[in-house]
Amino acid sequence: MSVIRQSESDFAAARKLLPGGVNSPVRAFKSVGGTPRFFAKAKGAYVWDVDDNQYIDYVGSWGPMILGHAHPDVVKGVQETAESGMSFGAPCELEIELAQLVVDMVPSIEVVRFVNSGTEATMSALRLARGFTGRDKFIKFDGGYHGHADGFLVKAGSGAATFGEPDSAGVPNDYAKLTLTAPFNDIEAVRALFAANKGEIACIIVEPVPGNTGVMLLNDNGFLQQLRDICDAEGALLIFDEVMCGFRVGPGGAQQRFGITPDLTCLGKIIGGGLPVGAYGGREEIMRRISPDGPVYQAGTLSGNPLAMRAGLETLSRLRAPGFYEELEARTTRLVEGLLAGCKAAGVPAVANQVGAMFTVFFTDLPAVTCCSDVSRHCDLGFFGRFFNAMLDEGVYLAPSQYEAAFMSAAHSDADIDATIAAAGRALAKLKA
Ligand SMILES: Cc1ncc(COP(=O)(O)O)c(C=O)c1O
Repeated sequence: MSVIRQSESDFAAARKLLPGGVNSPVRAFKSVGGTPRFFAKAKGAYVWDVDDNQYIDYVGSWGPMILGHAHPDVVKGVQETAESGMSFGAPCELEIELAQLVVDMVPSIEVVRFVNSGTEATMSALRLARGFTGRDKFIKFDGGYHGHADGFLVKAGSGAATFGEPDSAGVPNDYAKLTLTAPFNDIEAVRALFAANKGEIACIIVEPVPGNTGVMLLNDNGFLQQLRDICDAEGALLIFDEVMCGFRVGPGGAQQRFGITPDLTCLGKIIGGGLPVGAYGGREEIMRRISPDGPVYQAGTLSGNPLAMRAGLETLSRLRAPGFYEELEARTTRLVEGLLAGCKAAGVPAVANQVGAMFTVFFTDLPAVTCCSDVSRHCDLGFFGRFFNAMLDEGVYLAPSQYEAAFMSAAHSDADIDATIAAAGRALAKLKA
């Protein structure tokens, strides 16, 4: 067992001052038990806690750190930019440069608006879809996480095609009723919602690679293309929430990987290289409805902040190196195969879902995990918690929930992957003993 005295005392101090001791709920380790590690520094593939324990990190700040932590060129760029001022609240040239890069990399984006988080991107894109279509309702999928704006905090009711119930206190029921939900991969449920709400649905928002129930795979019947076709037929917009999978499963995100063109795309995480940036963009005709060009209001004091723009530029420009994604994906596959082999050797039933450089290993008897109810009903969440803590003791930092994705970075070496596989082997053997 590693010594974590300072993290324990920091957590006690933080709990007095912050709800749950944290500023974002899952960091509190509630579903896995144990003490959240307070981090002191991060470099490359590693993080160090305040007790100086070192971990190989597969969280990567929940996705942004695709180049590894504190990449020297990103740090240098941010330092240089900071010398010229931290924030202007006025236009700067770095915004044009990052906008051009985003337009060049993401196939469907012609015009883009920068915001400060993924939540801001999705809530603004939803407002824009409503403003553009003049309709109020929208469809999201069970288990799809699109940030914490009111309308998105709704899960499915008992049936596939039911009106939503709010998932959080404080979300008005009347507002949540505008959120319609369907199971992921279930095109008939989507058709039924359009049939029952003719001319009232502004958009479908979907994570084209769901990552917030653990990574889920598309079924092979062209689900995303079917969503595209239904939106075209019904006069609704298709929004891809690529906050997690954008710049992660390929340079142009999931839309490029799967060859489907959404009307609007939401971005976050990697686009800011570790600083707070989100963005939404898409067809010019739609984006011109945003204020001050059009009537849909959206604004931000720190939006387009020069430091954040520079971190994004330094990060995105490095993703275009030949072979970058192929190498990242190959390394991810090697890790996933090694972890599954370790589970098999230890007699622990497990399956994995992987898309590009994101993956989840699920502890389950199922032959495949295909939707969020597979996770809640058929995955051994208790075992996940014990595995997670055993891996911490082995010096490997995974996301503290079975419902999350793990992320590979360009800084993870073959030796890191071998060390992770060996650590998992020891952790599993210990847990089975
Ligand atoms: C798919 C998706 N959309 C939106 C968000 C919200 O982004 P943020 O946490 O930056 O507000 C997240 C965050 O994890 C996400 O994974």
